[in-house]
Amino acid sequence: MALHHNHSLRSFSLKHKLFIIFLLLISLPSLLIVIISEKKHQNPASLGTTALRHDQNNNVHANKKATKPAWFDVIAKDIKKEKIKIGLVNIHEDEEIVCSLQHLHPKVETITVNFDHVNESLKWEDLYPEWIDENEKWGKAKCPEMLTTATAKMNNLNVVVARVPESSCGVNRDVFRLQLNLVVANVAVESGWVSWEGFDPRVVYVVFVGSCGPMEEIFRCDDLLMHNHSEEGVDYWVYKPYLRSLKQKTLMPIGSCQISPLFAETGKEKWRGRPQKQKQNSSSILVGSTRIAYVTILHSSELYVCGAIALAHTILRNPDEDIRVPPEPKDLVLLADDSITSESLTALRAAGWNKIKRIQRIRNPFANKSSYNEWNYSKLRLWELTMYEKIVFLDSDVLVLKSLDGFFYYPQLSAAPNEKTMFNSGVMVIEPSQCMFENMLKKIHKVKSYNEGDQGFLNEVFAWWHRTPSKLNKLKVFRSNDEMIPEDLYTIHYLGLKPWMCGRHYDCNRDREDCRVFASDVAHQKWWQVYDSLPKDLQSYCGGLSKKIR
Ligand SMILES: *[C@@H]1O[C@H](CO)[C@@H](O)[C@H](O)[C@H]1NC(C)=O
Ligand SMILES: *[C@@H]1O[C@H](CO)[C@@H](O)[C@H](O)[C@H]1NC(C)=O
Ligand SMILES: *[C@@H]1O[C@H](CO)[C@@H](O)[C@H](O)[C@H]1NC(C)=O
Ligand SMILES: *[C@@H]1O[C@H](CO)[C@@H](O)[C@H](O)[C@H]1NC(C)=O
Ligand SMILES: *[C@@H]1O[C@H](CO)[C@@H](O)[C@H](O)[C@H]1NC(C)=O
Repeated sequence: MALHHNHSLRSFSLKHKLFIIFLLLISLPSLLIVIISEKKHQNPASLGTTALRHDQNNNVHANKKATKPAWFDVIAKDIKKEKIKIGLVNIHEDEEIVCSLQHLHPKVETITVNFDHVNESLKWEDLYPEWIDENEKWGKAKCPEMLTTATAKMNNLNVVVARVPESSCGVNRDVFRLQLNLVVANVAVESGWVSWEGFDPRVVYVVFVGSCGPMEEIFRCDDLLMHNHSEEGVDYWVYKPYLRSLKQKTLMPIGSCQISPLFAETGKEKWRGRPQKQKQNSSSILVGSTRIAYVTILHSSELYVCGAIALAHTILRNPDEDIRVPPEPKDLVLLADDSITSESLTALRAAGWNKIKRIQRIRNPFANKSSYNEWNYSKLRLWELTMYEKIVFLDSDVLVLKSLDGFFYYPQLSAAPNEKTMFNSGVMVIEPSQCMFENMLKKIHKVKSYNEGDQGFLNEVFAWWHRTPSKLNKLKVFRSNDEMIPEDLYTIHYLGLKPWMCGRHYDCNRDREDCRVFASDVAHQKWWQVYDSLPKDLQSYCGGLSKKIR
């Protein structure tokens, strides 16, 4: 506009120019009056609470500078709209950031997103009970009340801007922080009209203001467009979330207070890209398929080679007809460090691990030298398997008793409970991601693990996890030595001394005070049945213990 004006001015005569200068001069005093009265009008607001005074300061600051936020152009360029609708979460109408959004091009309309704050007395432990009534003996398990949607319906927003409270920086298990993240996720999903397959959701951006950013469990680093640390000390985290995945997270229970649902069963959630049967053409693979794999890891010694052989055998003999039609070879991925000989790898391949990847093990920098958990951070390498969208990870001391294919529907990170608010990292549903891997590598120097192992670390990184039935990862802890194993288990996780180390005849966990809780002759026998069904040449890999075995 200004340029255009100048251009036409040039064609004006000198007389016209003088007239304009005259007009400007006489309008100056009235401009001053307007400015003064504005100031007067503002003053009363600064009396009152400290909070208001703080806002007032922000305002003055904004009038002076009102710098356009760095993220705005990036988003505006992509949205290509005359007007951009921005929802504000946990941001007051008269904060500096709101002023900085005025008089921009394209125009901005801001809307405050209100939500009922969660009761302050609610604790993380209330959302993550150690035990729940999984079999619904006394009815469906209930979660405490925490609203995760906006008070009013929020349609058609292009951007959601949210302030992350500084007080929650570095605090992983903060209930209000979770609520805020879930409200933002729900508002974004609602504005994106995420629905059935076939309709692409609208693009909705999410901007987090504040130095700590959002919860990585909910807003994936893969969707982070930019993170700026500005001179004014305000951090912006700009996300373009993949809304289908975000929607799935909004449908999860708020904590481990309930078992996460398998939506595929209801038929309502096709948007998740459930692998489906292709009826007409049986030679093609999957419709809406996700790239999936079962994965295990061996590092530091060959002690578990035998376990991994038995594991592959049990994965393969429990196919799920429903998911892969026709049944195809599944990807069974084995990560192995240098301590595993190539001879062992040949046997492992024969057992069914059809993709083998050499890795370098990762040390926990805080671990005691040669403690049993020293190298368990090698498990973080799972996140490097980005050729897969989803993996089901199994420790090599696990046996599969029933197909686990259904668990590929769960989002990251889904697992069975262990103790207190934590999951057991022996069986997990994971979504590989390079940036997640790198972020975790940075964290291993800061975040401590309660047991020096990967389980403690992963529970800090994925404090917000999703509960699967305990049957997915049945820890070998039974009330008595000869207690019957429940019929419908998906796996048994052989904690304590391993069956192939004890020998066939009885569970040697009985012999050691510190292992007695893991003793179960029934579970022990179950493992040896699998051993008996292995081809002879693979049985021989069950170690130098073979003499004792026979
Ligand atoms: C918050 O929870 C506590 C304890 O359950 C209860 O006494 C209190 O009334 C609740 N406050 C509100 C505002 O609901
Ligand atoms: C913000 O970050 C982007 C990339 O992350 C960079 O290109 C840009 O210059 C930064 N802007 C400011 C104002 O720091
Ligand atoms: C089935 O799939 C194969 C391989 O993709 C293709 O060559 C063939 O034309 C398909 N047949 C039908 C009936 O779609
Ligand atoms: C590491 O070693 C120290 C000193 O021996 C000990 O106090 C500590 O408990 C050990 N840590 C773990 C996790 O075992
Ligand atoms: C850590 O790794 C070692 C060696 O593979 C294994 O014996 C141990 O059970 C692992 N610990 C945990 C907590 O996974």
